[in-house]
Amino acid sequence: MGSVNHSLRKRLDRPIVLVGLMGAGKSTVGRRLARRLDLPFIDSDAAIEDASGLSAGEVFERYGEADFRDGERRLVARLMDGPVRVIATGGGAYVNEQTRKLLNERAITVWLDAPVDLLAERTARRPETRPMLKDGDRSEILTKLIEERRPKYAEAHIRIPSTGGSHGEVVEAIVAALERHLSHP
Ligand code: S3P
Repeated sequence: MGSVNHSLRKRLDRPIVLVGLMGAGKSTVGRRLARRLDLPFIDSDAAIEDASGLSAGEVFERYGEADFRDGERRLVARLMDGPVRVIATGGGAYVNEQTRKLLNERAITVWLDAPVDLLAERTARRPETRPMLKDGDRSEILTKLIEERRPKYAEAHIRIPSTGGSHGEVVEAIVAALERHLSHP
């Protein structure tokens, strides 16, 4: 396993960026994937927090969605200039056309595709961190977001179905898909 990691790592010349809806597991899986590949990890929501002193949710609520999206777009673009690492993005980042294009050019993009019931269950755990889900029925909002965003997330280089197996299984599925992607991009 170590030698597979080693050769995979050597061939990675660009960041791995996880995209997908809230609750898909981008942060948790991203952190584990980074550990598995011995790479640094960064979470764009956490980077927003470091830069602003407010959580991503608070920035969203205090300054409004448009300002949040604009700041997020600039921050994610800056992350492309950093070292090779695993990056978990907020669910809306890759929906922006400019960001999607940039990430597909400069990174390997991985869509964690999870069903709505799993997303609803996971996002119920810390509702205060998800301002988009607080005014209405969580499953309904997520269903609508999936419908709107699916064609965009589908532009990612790699799609990983995440249907409720363990995070470890998802990490292994990503590693296998990265191996394939690097052999036949
Ligand atoms: C959002 C997802 C959130 C956060 C913000 C908006 C979205 O990140 O950036 O609340 O539009 O999908 P997570 O996907 O990490 O929850």
